[in-house]
Amino acid sequence: MRISFPAAADPAPHVHVVLAGPGGEMTPGAIMVDAASEGQVARALKTGRFEGEASAVVEILGPHGLAAARLLIIGMGPADKATPAVFEKIGATVAARFQACGETRVTVDMTGVTGALPLADAAAHLAHGASLRSYRFDKYRTTMKPKTKPTLTDFDIIGAPGAEAKHEQLAAIAAGVTRTRDLVSEPANVIYPESFVESAQDLKDLGIELTVLGEDEMRALGMGALLGVAQGSVRPPRLMAMRWNGTGNPDAKPVVFVGKGVTFDTGGISIKPAAGMEDMKWDMGGAGAVTGAMHALAARKAKAHVVGVVGLVENMPDGNAQRPGDVVTSMNGQTIEVINTDAEGRLVLCDAIWWAQEKFNPEVVVDLATLTGAIIVSLGHEHAGLFCNDDGLAAQLTTAGDTCGEKLWRMPIGDAYDKLIDSAIADIKNVGPREGGSITAAQFIKRFVKPGVKWAHLDIAGTVWSSKVGTLHDKGATGYGVRLLDRFIAANFEG
Ligand code: BES
Ligand code: MN
Ligand code: ZN
Repeated sequence: MRISFPAAADPAPHVHVVLAGPGGEMTPGAIMVDAASEGQVARALKTGRFEGEASAVVEILGPHGLAAARLLIIGMGPADKATPAVFEKIGATVAARFQACGETRVTVDMTGVTGALPLADAAAHLAHGASLRSYRFDKYRTTMKPKTKPTLTDFDIIGAPGAEAKHEQLAAIAAGVTRTRDLVSEPANVIYPESFVESAQDLKDLGIELTVLGEDEMRALGMGALLGVAQGSVRPPRLMAMRWNGTGNPDAKPVVFVGKGVTFDTGGISIKPAAGMEDMKWDMGGAGAVTGAMHALAARKAKAHVVGVVGLVENMPDGNAQRPGDVVTSMNGQTIEVINTDAEGRLVLCDAIWWAQEKFNPEVVVDLATLTGAIIVSLGHEHAGLFCNDDGLAAQLTTAGDTCGEKLWRMPIGDAYDKLIDSAIADIKNVGPREGGSITAAQFIKRFVKPGVKWAHLDIAGTVWSSKVGTLHDKGATGYGVRLLDRFIAANFEG
């Protein structure tokens, strides 16, 4: 779907959208169509008991006196409560409603819209919401009925001077979200470690520097934990770093994002039950989010130094797969007793995080991982779990999440939890007791964070994939994490 900001409405029939405030108070764009339709808008608002709540709608089919095929009046809520999120929701509502309505063009008239948010920003965020909500993953559907196929190709916004420039930055972010959703939606026979790396090659065109380690290089570095997970798969593992330095200073200490990229998680020899196992194609959601965030940052030329590192493996059972009870040695020399081969994410992350710290000397490390089913038991699908060794960093991330709607909830960590993963025969074991499973997983990762490094772990197992439609996404891959990480950088590292 093309987003444009033309000077005037297209004369051809289209879907025309105007806004109204609380009590049905019409914006100038709405007053204009009300006059042209000889009061049809006012009558419809009254009949529809329209109160102007944010994204409440009244639709008129074949409006009188207008070229438009359909006319939509959409509420924007109280002017003093106008935030980017409100306008994103309005744009998303419009896009979702008309995506497959038979018309090809929507025109939103924002003439004279006033409120807490400057008009150009309001329009840019409305477009952003429309763009995010209209994502679809249809490439494997070959027999879609014409009536359910998307028809909308053009989304125009008029009456908002200056919006186009503001939208450019947001379009860069939306492109990152799309990249993440594509990676997460693809099945595991298409996206596996090598093809994930292949798919990232075009990031170079945005100015991102890629470093890719293969199996031999990882063995030479002593990454026994990551390699132990990979050894049961015929797909060789990869470790990839994506570096963007927009500061102009080659010595700037970077922020490092690390993503769990298990391209399929069968559980290994500690195999998972069959029901729902197909979901484990999105066990690379952390790596997907990190990759999409790097895309967004580079595409909008963020003035920050950020490195995204993804640990890519497939967790399979096989004659050569690692066994419960195996002891592996991680890159930093710690020995790990693998009690359960299904607790593989932490084994991948510990080597990826250690390597990232050695190589990039970061000030801050944030890892994202679909790490535990237990976090879904704790928080459901509304918040991702936040585990952090620094209150300031925790606050920055929480605020970024609240601002963009990708919410985080802080969970505890501490020595008493840490003890639970002491092993009888090695330095550490990869699972603790059933209780507090997300916390002991975080404690495991924490043992690989260097002193002085500010670190946060985001357990995103409940937020990467959605079985229901959300404000800015359809069912399926949400793209969770991209907007959060982008906001986190924008608000704290681009001063
Ligand atoms: N990838 C899973 C976690 C997961 C579960 C993500 C459901 C999304 C939805 C992870 O590798 C895993 O299997 N974790 C185990 C840990 C356990 C063996 C300690 C779990 O959560 O059951
Ligand atoms: Mn697992
Ligand atoms: Zn997993």
